[in-house]
Amino acid sequence: GTPIILDCDPGHDDAIAILLAASHPSIDLLALTTVAGNQTLEKCTLNARRVCTVAGISVPIAVGASGPLSGELHVAAEIHGESGLDGPSWPAPSVDVVSEPAVELMRRVLLSHPAPVTLVPTGPLTNVAALLTTYPEVLPRIGEIVLMGGSTGRGNVRPYAEFNSWVDPEAAAIVFASGLPVTMVGLNTSHQALVTPEVVARLEALGTPVASMCVELMTFFASAYSAVEGFPAPPLHDPITLARVISPALVRCVPAYVSVETAGEFTRGATVVDFGNRTGLEPNAQVAMELDVEGFFDLIVESVASYG
Ligand code: BDR
Ligand code: CA
Repeated sequence: GTPIILDCDPGHDDAIAILLAASHPSIDLLALTTVAGNQTLEKCTLNARRVCTVAGISVPIAVGASGPLSGELHVAAEIHGESGLDGPSWPAPSVDVVSEPAVELMRRVLLSHPAPVTLVPTGPLTNVAALLTTYPEVLPRIGEIVLMGGSTGRGNVRPYAEFNSWVDPEAAAIVFASGLPVTMVGLNTSHQALVTPEVVARLEALGTPVASMCVELMTFFASAYSAVEGFPAPPLHDPITLARVISPALVRCVPAYVSVETAGEFTRGATVVDFGNRTGLEPNAQVAMELDVEGFFDLIVESVASYG
């Protein structure tokens, strides 16, 4: 399978991304790294350990950045709860983190793996930006970066800024300017991936401990998205990155030049997507536009089912 490192801030949709990355035969999950975002670094790291414990996933988990490259950390407690993963009652985790920090582990894995590795960031891009700036020798070892963040239109935490790019705009700017192949899965696509009651019922019917964990997670996520955003069902943003790696045809993309606003008075964290090549700059990203929703949720249900 495609070798990947999943860099995440679990987070309800990150949790499902972990399950998909660890179970799909066409993915070789080399490591999980954590970053502050949906909640503090401590909470997101604990949550990664919790998900791996319940699902029996054994993969190195390395601890990353506790806040953005510049400024204060903003968390998403209204959407993900005080724990960052509210809903289930979690058993004490039985898997631990490795002692190596996330960026060091990423560097070592990239330099030692025989083939180029795909980075899949589903939180703020702090760790990835730190990796690229501190250890530029890893650039040729990165096959591509398939990230969840940004939007071609409106934002979710600010009128024009999506949460991950808003939490660390400087990091996002570094990643888009890196010259590496970047795929951006933004809100314009992730808002197509609504976890409807029908999807929850399919998960519930599996009747396994991992499926119950998912149902409890999605039930909390649904009530938060309903209360805060008025959504009929919650969008499963993060696993779309993995769907793109597993089966590219599930996520239709178009090339475009993407810049990240870091200075805007009202638009900090906005991803400015140059459709129509107004800037004349060469595309630096594949921008996700359309999701095969049915195929995507089949993949999710199959993944959860594979945990038995
Ligand atoms: C992104 O922000 C987080 O709340 C989700 O996990 C996702 O990565 C959506 O804006
Ligand atoms: Ca996330």
